[in-house]
Amino acid sequence: MPKVLLVEDNEESRDGLSRHLKRKGYEVLTAETGEDAVELLRRHKVTGMLLDVNLPGTNGIDLVPRIVELEPHLALLMLTAVNDATSAALCMQRGAMDYLTKPIDLAHLSRAIQRALQQRRARLDSQHLNQWLKEEVAVRTAEVQFERQNLERISLATLEALVNALEAKDPYLRGHSARVADMSATVAAAMHRSDEEIELVRTGGRLHDIGKIGIREDVLGKQGPLTDREYDHVKQHVVVGSQILSPLVHLKHVIGFVRSHHERWDGTGYPDRLAGEVIPLGARIIGAVEIYDALTTSRPYQEKMDPQLAVERMRDLVGTVLDPAVYEALAEVVGRRVALVFLDDQPA
Ligand SMILES: [Fe+2]
Repeated sequence: MPKVLLVEDNEESRDGLSRHLKRKGYEVLTAETGEDAVELLRRHKVTGMLLDVNLPGTNGIDLVPRIVELEPHLALLMLTAVNDATSAALCMQRGAMDYLTKPIDLAHLSRAIQRALQQRRARLDSQHLNQWLKEEVAVRTAEVQFERQNLERISLATLEALVNALEAKDPYLRGHSARVADMSATVAAAMHRSDEEIELVRTGGRLHDIGKIGIREDVLGKQGPLTDREYDHVKQHVVVGSQILSPLVHLKHVIGFVRSHHERWDGTGYPDRLAGEVIPLGARIIGAVEIYDALTTSRPYQEKMDPQLAVERMRDLVGTVLDPAVYEALAEVVGRRVALVFLDDQPA
């Protein structure tokens, strides 16, 4: 049974309305003043309210905001004098649902209460629906995001496995990409790049030579110098690599690193002859570290070089092949590592 609170200071009018409402099946609470009404509202769960505008003490107009704050969805109807349309409009603005002019037509009253209660129900339903939708959207968004990250991780792991398989065939290349990845990330950190960028550079390092999958094995494994044709074929690995990765939109920046890691600071590199800072920083770092890694690991045609010596040799490439800032950072990182190894070697 809906509980209705009737706030009316005129006793005769209050009793008449109360009797009518009870006959219509409502449970009725009554109050003579606004303060009593607020008190009752605090103690009872009320669904509808009839509120006289002219009350002793706080009038109905000033009560509306307090009532709406206590019970935001209350079916609130104002009872106004015939000549008081302005007050009625004000109350509606503040959150009342309807108003009735005195003397109250009882048939009209019943319909107005029913309408207001229906409106209340509809507002509550839509609020619940909104809340449910909001929660549902949040849950689904989190699920989709989780799935996407999972797929990204899996695709990356698959590509890394491919690189490992490629390198496993060549004893001189084994571990090359993993070393380039770690060193490149350290150089990026030494250049004070953001954590996100450092991780992109690391991923770029892992995948920079993935395009070698598209290079013929006889050329890839050739001992001795390559012919011009063969060299042109090897150069294709940067283009093939970026093509392999192109469907992976989350690797957008990494693809640029892969494609441009053989560009040169002076613009004479490949495949696009980019120069200076037009070459993505990640590509400049990976390119420099790749040279360092080639010098410091044994190859069929050379003994491995001492790290400090390799850095000194690379100084000749600054300004032509290498970005001076990247070279400085690389030299700093290698210097730090050499110092650490030196400390480790000291007797305790
Ligand atoms: Fe390469």
